[in-house]
Amino acid sequence: MEIKQNDINLCIDLPGIKMKNPTMVASGTFGYGEEYSSFFDLRELGAIVTKSITLRPRVGNRPPRISETPSGILNAIGLQNVGLEKFISDKMPFLREISIPIIVSISGEDVSEYVEIAQRLSEIPDVSALELNISCPNVSKGGMQFGSNTKMTHDLVSAVRCATELPIIVKLSPNVTNIVEIALSAEEAGADVLSLINTLLGMAIDINTRRPKLGNITGGLSGPAIRPIAIRMVWQVFNKVKIPIIGMGGIMTASDALEFIIAGAKAVSIGTANFVNPISVLEVIKGIREYMQQKGIANVNDLVGSLDVS
Ligand SMILES: Cc1cc2nc3c(=O)[nH]c(=O)nc-3n(C[C@H](O)[C@H](O)[C@H](O)COP(=O)(O)O)c2cc1C
Repeated sequence: MEIKQNDINLCIDLPGIKMKNPTMVASGTFGYGEEYSSFFDLRELGAIVTKSITLRPRVGNRPPRISETPSGILNAIGLQNVGLEKFISDKMPFLREISIPIIVSISGEDVSEYVEIAQRLSEIPDVSALELNISCPNVSKGGMQFGSNTKMTHDLVSAVRCATELPIIVKLSPNVTNIVEIALSAEEAGADVLSLINTLLGMAIDINTRRPKLGNITGGLSGPAIRPIAIRMVWQVFNKVKIPIIGMGGIMTASDALEFIIAGAKAVSIGTANFVNPISVLEVIKGIREYMQQKGIANVNDLVGSLDVS
């Protein structure tokens, strides 16, 4: 039975984060928000996740840093970012004015770097949550090394847990044999939310020069090509953990986002699609609403994990 537009409830709650719809933008694909402000009213977003920041500024890897693939992109940006203090002084003032949840993604080479950033950001008004990027495949120290080992994940999340009262989202890597083990380890160490997936480690070669297409040789694959893997991982993790999940990986349309929600994601994140169509996130929100109207589902929370495998 079709229901009225006004009866649709898209609000979701993640621990400590109230969102007016379940759709956010993925770290590293939306800059620090300002870059997209000329395309649409950023208040429409459920939340913004900023580019991962590190203690000191980073210039990133040598170019080329992006290579297109048949159904996505390979990137090896290497965590280029302005660094913690410049983020606080130059980027937070714009972000806090939007008045939506601001999730700051953080990364580090060792546990102490994550802890120091977490402590400092805990003093900054309007930081809604921290997302620990333990899954970057494009840096030589830290990053994915944390997220591919249960003990390292546990040690890192426990240390950050002791350093902050902000909600902690742990962003998982798909470049592991068993993502459920890592998810459980993060949950046990005190994570409030899990987000998955980061990019899949990949590589492409120019056959004319016989050189790698990326300066870093390897890179992270994102976009529609990775979506079935991401859906599978969200579903597997949803079946084992109690904390909420933010699902991402190749979401281009509302239908893709709904797959994640039905698989168990309470919220979804749009990444590569922002580069193809900067307002895709608005189209996703609109499409979710239309689907719910058509199916007679008033509350988006009723869709979360509603997969029928009978
Ligand atoms: C150019 C680029 C830069 C990225 N930078 C980050 C980053 O700084 N931190 C992070 O956690 N993920 C980063 N990611 C991963 C995305 O946030 C997302 O997890 C991944 O791309 C899968 O989603 P998608 O297929 O919708 O892009 C980056 C992805 C791309 C394409």
